[in-house]
Amino acid sequence: MARKKIALIGAGQIGGTLAHLAGLKELGDIVLFDIADGVPQGKGLDIAESAPVDGFDAKYSGASDYSAIAGADVVIVTAGVPRKPGMSRDDLIGINLKVMEAVGTGIKTHAPNAFVICITNPLDAMVWALQKFSGLDPKKIVGMAGVLDSARFRHFLAEEFQVSVEDVTAFVLGGHGDDMVPLVRYSTVAGVPLPDLVKMGWTTQEKLDAMVERTRKGGGEIVNLLKTGSAFYAPAASAIAMAESYLKDKKRVLPCAAHLTGQYGVDGLFIGVPIVIGENGVERIVEVEFSGEEKAMFEKSVNSVKGLVEACKGINGALA
Ligand code: APR
Repeated sequence: MARKKIALIGAGQIGGTLAHLAGLKELGDIVLFDIADGVPQGKGLDIAESAPVDGFDAKYSGASDYSAIAGADVVIVTAGVPRKPGMSRDDLIGINLKVMEAVGTGIKTHAPNAFVICITNPLDAMVWALQKFSGLDPKKIVGMAGVLDSARFRHFLAEEFQVSVEDVTAFVLGGHGDDMVPLVRYSTVAGVPLPDLVKMGWTTQEKLDAMVERTRKGGGEIVNLLKTGSAFYAPAASAIAMAESYLKDKKRVLPCAAHLTGQYGVDGLFIGVPIVIGENGVERIVEVEFSGEEKAMFEKSVNSVKGLVEACKGINGALA
């Protein structure tokens, strides 16, 4: 059986890490694409030269021509610019929208049957625009945000409780902005919900609130430390989990920015919700019940995404 083909559009910090992880996990052969000629070729060759040491088989190639992504099974998009200190994800909208137009056209022409994962920020608006520009079936395109936001929350919780990260589950919904919605009621340690753990004296409500807030600002925390760019290890690992679920038909339940058609009272936007990812792409959207307060938080987050999408329409009339 031929190996799967994974195309990475954008061979920067996240793209390079994606290429390395996809090889280590033997998910398929990897094409790195970037407008900075030499970078995708160089990173591809460097990683290929690590394969004999780590013992994995994957072919790597680098390109600056979209024909190289032809027939890709999975396309992961990180092309664009990342944040610098003082910038919000929304500040990137103008530049990255133009990039999405080029990328969407490339995918439409050369890889129209791929499962596409968008990482470029502001995520919820960029994945929406990428779907429009590419004309992809909305079930075959998702945005990576919730897996990362949940992973950040899980890390903070595991540190606080001094337990394995493996036994901590977290549930973060909504847009990938500072008003994302970490749902403590649905987040657990080995199935025990966080509010119960507060009652059991494992932590205090104040500490839990602080961890929720740190999760919301998790991306900014890394930007302020790095100063020259934004997070890349955890975002890459998160997108690889999504790609693996598609390629191996694992049917994992993962929070992703998915196209909603009435679920959660939202129509026509990409919003972070739990979905099942299998060989058909988005196979199911999981709709949970919200409390009044949760609903209000979710709606606030949805309104922020709406604002970004309207801004995209204002910048590019073809999207209106
Ligand atoms: N086509 C292809 N590649 C492009 C294009 C384009 N039109 N424009 C820019 N790029 C490439 C850049 O040359 C660079 O190599 O995208 C790459 C982006 O890499 P980095 O600057 O290292 O950014 P990274 O940290 O990987 O983040 C990428 O993901 O999380 C988001 O906010 C982040 O939007 C940013 C994206």
